[in-house]
Amino acid sequence: MKAYKIYIINENIYIDLFSGEHIVQGVARFNSKHSMNGCCGGGCGICRIKILSGDYTTKKMSRKQVTDEEEKEGYALGCRVFPESDMSIEYVGLKNS
Ligand code: FES
Repeated sequence: MKAYKIYIINENIYIDLFSGEHIVQGVARFNSKHSMNGCCGGGCGICRIKILSGDYTTKKMSRKQVTDEEEKEGYALGCRVFPESDMSIEYVGLKNS
């Protein structure tokens, strides 16, 4: 099984992910109390990230949390992002409302 390194640039930490896992799964293994841990269902928005580099696929995300426009700019929900290479991301968290 392939493993990828995910660099969270604004926290200066690397997490390991196996293929088929989403980013929040790797974060939870690294630190179960990390604030990115949320519903893991693509709805709450606590795992909002900005993707800086790397290959990945996504599953359906709440458009309230990540609009089409934001997705084009690299924003995504970590629990809906499945890496296919090493990646660099920024942890953003909940939108200000
Ligand atoms: S953990 Fe709730 S949207 Fe990702």
